[in-house]
Formats: sequence, structure tokens, C-alpha cells
Amino acid sequence: MADDTTDTKSSNQMWGGRFASGPDAIMEEINASIGFDKKLFAQDIRGSIAHATMLAHQGIISAEDKDKIVHGLNTILSEIESGNFEFSRQLEDIHMNVEARLATLIGPAAGRLHTARSRNDQVALDFRLWVKEELQKTEQMLTRLIAAFLDRAEQHAESVMPGFTHLQTAQPVTFGHHCMAYVEMFGRDRSRVRHAIEHLDESPIGAAALAGTGYPIDRHMTAKALGFREPTRNSIDTVSDRDFAIEFLSIAAIAGMHLSRLAEEIVIWSTPQFGFVRLSDAFSTGSSIMPQKKNPDAAELVRAKTGRINGSLVALLTIMKGLPLAYSKDMQEDKEQVFDAAESLELAIAAMTGMVRDMTVNTARMKAAAGSGYSTATDLADWLVREAGLPFRDAHHVTGRAVALAESKGCDLAELPLSDLQAIHPDITDKVYDVLTVEASVASRKSFGGTAPSEVRKQIAFWRARN
Ligand code: ARG
Repeated sequence: MADDTTDTKSSNQMWGGRFASGPDAIMEEINASIGFDKKLFAQDIRGSIAHATMLAHQGIISAEDKDKIVHGLNTILSEIESGNFEFSRQLEDIHMNVEARLATLIGPAAGRLHTARSRNDQVALDFRLWVKEELQKTEQMLTRLIAAFLDRAEQHAESVMPGFTHLQTAQPVTFGHHCMAYVEMFGRDRSRVRHAIEHLDESPIGAAALAGTGYPIDRHMTAKALGFREPTRNSIDTVSDRDFAIEFLSIAAIAGMHLSRLAEEIVIWSTPQFGFVRLSDAFSTGSSIMPQKKNPDAAELVRAKTGRINGSLVALLTIMKGLPLAYSKDMQEDKEQVFDAAESLELAIAAMTGMVRDMTVNTARMKAAAGSGYSTATDLADWLVREAGLPFRDAHHVTGRAVALAESKGCDLAELPLSDLQAIHPDITDKVYDVLTVEASVASRKSFGGTAPSEVRKQIAFWRARN
């Protein structure tokens, strides 16, 4: 509302020809998008320059008018960039704010810019350009996060930790292997981002209101000038499509879900009870009342940001779901969802990259925990299958009895004397102790993608080469 500058009651100078009076104050408030779509100013101006250049090239406007328009638009760009531009809510949105200023700067030639286009293809263009840049930024940020995990995986290819299912100790794994699980997850996110860039890489400008235009425009020329692969092929779809925004939000939601799982693990790992990692001071906070505390606030906020991103995805899907073709004003509500999700996602990735890089890993705690909870029970069962020829189901049963015995004695499997093990099954020899340590357990899991340090190193090399 602070943006108000012009008289509320006069009819709109851009489309007010058939209107006797201006909009009601509430109408203006619900209608205006300048409060948020001013973020698209650079894309809007770039698009207009490409459009005007094409119009002149095709002989639709004169070269002199084009020069005036381009010069004026560049002036506006620097005005906005330097904070010397007064946005007006009466002018609704970024498109009309720029065009009105252009008229003030260059006079009647400004009126020729909107030839052979509509705000419908203009907004589709501006928003696509914005989302494309955001996807490119996301790709780079994910690459940095992946690199942070690859470094961690390399350092900890041999560090043993408990692997969990149901958050119960399952089998020993390496911390490097666990880190590489996140590399896979964020690697999928990154490839989704790359596909999304390909999907949206078509230029909407020239679709006009919805039906195309009678002017002899060259949409291939504007597509090329704006860095798109090609123009879109159906003008109706072009102005009614927001798939690119929804794809961005779905990718953000999936990546957000991954980030949230990581955040949850960091919250758990950094408790004194687990003590697997210690967050750096830079990524934790203290308590105002309990001096001993170090809280993982950044991880918790990453976990929470996921809620906002999911909300944005559901909001835009819901906004779009009942809309008849082609453009409806409902679609103006697309931008805030995407802007908010983009900000949350960027913050979440950046915070996680910092945490992963900075945290101290307590390998001694991890190793001690890896050995507890009878985590090598499967190794004992596998040994019985391999060395004593038992069917796996019988081996599972024998092992269960060994675990029960160890539990009753309050010791580990490796601490049971051979006589105890032989009482459970006579074919057990002292060779069994070779597989009951956590190191032997992880080293044996050399199947492709398994937790053995040798395998983990192969996967690290794969991802380093892939990038
Ligand atoms: N501010 C509008 C939006 O964000 C621009 C397109 C307006 N088009 C129209 N026909 N009213 O969607």
C-alpha cells in the first residue's frame, strides 16, 4: 500500500479505455501483484528488449522506435537496480509498471512495445526465465552439497557405525556408506533439476493473449535471444501452463524431504545419548537457561522448512486444478508460492552444506555403538550357512539362540566362549570369531553398492567422475 502514487479513481491508463471509473480500493488490493512480482523486473525488461528487437527486425515497428524503447528499458533497469524506481499499485503488476515508466521516459514510442504480445505471454515468459535461473542456482547448490558429502565419505570410508532399520541397530555399516546414501538422494534431486530445465526450455513470448497473433513475428528469434532452445508449440497451452512452476515445487518438495531426513538424523546423532556428531558452534545455538546445551536449531529449521515447501506445492496444484484453458487471474497466485519455496530451499541446502562440512564426527562413539545390539548376528548366521552348510532359516534360528544366551549373560556375541556356541551348534569352530567383529562384518559386504570400504570407494570415484 505504501507504493500508492497515482489517483485511485481514474481509470487504468493501460486497459481503462472502456472503464468510466477506477477500481474500488478492495478491487485494487486483491488485483495487484506488484508487491511480489517486482522480483521479475530483470526478466521483464530482458523479455521486452528481445521482443522490441524482433518487432523491428520484422518491420513491425521502426528501428528508431526500437532504439528508443531499448534505451528506455535499460534506463528503467538501472533505476530499479539502484532503488530509484517508484512502484505503483494502481499499475497492478511489474509489466505495467515498466511500461508506464517507459511512456514517461520516451513518449508515444512506448505504446508500440506491446504490439503482438499480451501480459499473458509476457508473464509466462518472465516467470519461466526466473524459474530457469532458480533451477540453475539449485543445481549448483546441490552440487556443492554433494561435494561436501563426497569429502565426508572419503574421510570415513572405513569408519564403522551402526546401520539402522526401524531406528533399531541392524547391521554395521560405514559412515562413508551412509554419507553416500545422501549423495544418491541429492544426485537424484539434481538430475530432476536438470530434466526440469530441459522441460521448461521453450519460449512463451509470441503466444500473445492465447491465440497467437496476426503480426509477422519471429518466435524463433526471440526464443534464441532469450536463451531458450525453441518456442513453445501451442499458444493456448503456453499461456495456461504452469507446469514449470509445479515441477520446480515438486522437485523442491522431494529435495526438502531429503533435507529433512538428513536434518532429523543430525538432530538424533548430535544428542548426548548418541554422540555420533558434534555440530560446530557456527551451526548451533545455546539455551538461555541451560548452560550445558548446544541445540541443533539449524537442522530443526531445515526440517520445518519442508512443511512450507510442501504447502507451496499443494497450494499451486490446487490453484491450477480446476482452471479452464487458457489464462485465468488465479494464476497470478503462482509466484508467491514459488518465491517462498525457492527461498526456503536455498536456505535449507546452504545450511545443510555448512553443517555437513563443519560437524565433528565421533568415530569412537560410532564404533562402540556399531558393536552393540548384536549387530553382527547376521554375520554369524551367514557363517553357519557358508562354513557349516546350514540352510539360512536354520542358521537364523541357531543365531537367535546365541543372541538370547549373550543377552542373558549380558555380553556381546564375540564374548561368548566357544563352548557356549558349540553347545548351541556343534559345527561352530573358533574361526567364527573372525566374522563377529564389526570391521570384518563391513569388509565382507562387497556386493555392488554394499557397505565394504572397497565398494564405498568405488561409488565415491563414480560420483567424482560424474559430477
Ligand atoms: N499480473 C498478472 C499475473 O501475474 C499478469 C498477467 C495478467 N493478464 C491478464 N490478462 N490480466 O498473472
